[in-house]
Amino acid sequence: MDTSCVMCHNGDPGLPIPDFTKLESIMKVAETDTGTSFSSLARVSHIHLFGISFIFMFVGLIFSLAAGVPRKLKALVIVMPYVFLILDISSWWLTKLNPNFAWLVIIGGGMIALSFAFMWIVSMYEMWIMPRLYSDNRDALLDE
Ligand code: HEC
Repeated sequence: MDTSCVMCHNGDPGLPIPDFTKLESIMKVAETDTGTSFSSLARVSHIHLFGISFIFMFVGLIFSLAAGVPRKLKALVIVMPYVFLILDISSWWLTKLNPNFAWLVIIGGGMIALSFAFMWIVSMYEMWIMPRLYSDNRDALLDE
């Protein structure tokens, strides 16, 4: 350190770089980034669990009124975001233990997005486009 680094990293106010003559400033730059802290994970997990659940409660409610979607598929698409939301948020915590779990975060988020897109497109089509093309008297709740 003294022979190779301090010639520049010496706290000279003309050079805005870490001063390596003091141990604390070396420790500061040598710190390992361990990612998001547990307290911030806990906070963001709460916000996402409640916020995204509410979003999908309303999106799912609207989509449940769509006609022409087989009942089993409809149930699957409505439930999917909740399952993958739990997977997504648990994998944030698991990523803290092993970085490979980051893949689960991507898969979880992707599946949430996929089910959202399906519900959004079907609902928007049936509400705004289909009525202008032809009249449809099917009853979604009776699965006709
Ligand atoms: C010739 C002068 C010089 C020497 C010798 C030198 N550095 Fe640097 N170092 C710099 C400069 C200038 C910067 C700022 C670069 C920038 O910000 O783009 C820097 C930046 C750094 C940073 C990044 C600091 C930050 O805030 O992110 C670290 C870490 C570092 N040097 C470590 C070392 C170590 C360890 C040595 C010795 C092996 C060393 N440097 C030797 C000039 C030097």
